[in-house]
Amino acid sequence: MTKRVAILISGGGSNMVALADDMTGDHPARPVLVLSNRPDAGGLGKARARGISTCVVDHRRFGADRAAFEAELTHVLEQASPDIICLAGFMRVLTEGFVTRWRGRMLNIHPSLLPKYKGLDTHARAIAAGDTEAGCSVHEVTAELDGGRVLGQARVPILPGDTPDTLAARVLVQEHRLYPLVLRRFATGDTARVELR
Ligand code: GRF
Repeated sequence: MTKRVAILISGGGSNMVALADDMTGDHPARPVLVLSNRPDAGGLGKARARGISTCVVDHRRFGADRAAFEAELTHVLEQASPDIICLAGFMRVLTEGFVTRWRGRMLNIHPSLLPKYKGLDTHARAIAAGDTEAGCSVHEVTAELDGGRVLGQARVPILPGDTPDTLAARVLVQEHRLYPLVLRRFATGDTARVELR
């Protein structure tokens, strides 16, 4: 049975594109919705160009009422009936209530080698720490920010003279390899950890 995948974005959606473009042929899943919290997200146009349904739930409409925002997210998602939710550059922190509703079916890609550098500014922190490598992680989403089981990682070198931007660009290439690989396996129930170099 083909798995239905909803992808949540906030920006350009390059990871969404990588995921959507991989879900063809004998892939066990198909994208059924791209949902953004920002009406100006560039990824919305890319999704529409691929014939994928889109929706916007503008978090600013809800002010500080996170529960109301997530209730609207849930309402929209339930109409799409996803089997899997992929957070892909989605920049809103989700509450335990929302995460519990989708526990075991929600993935995220984070631009660090978890458990190192949870949260923001991962590349600047790795460079400042003098690390010689960086990378990205796909993990199951739990109530702990960037804390769920890691299903895959890809590693890149940190080079002399790297800035957060040059490192981010190197990592992003690997994100677009790793996330589709992990989703393809996750959709078959295979949660064996993937390591890419
Ligand atoms: C990526 O670096 C990803 O790791 C982070 O958001 C950034 C932008 O992602 N979660 P995208 O281009 O919008 O997919």
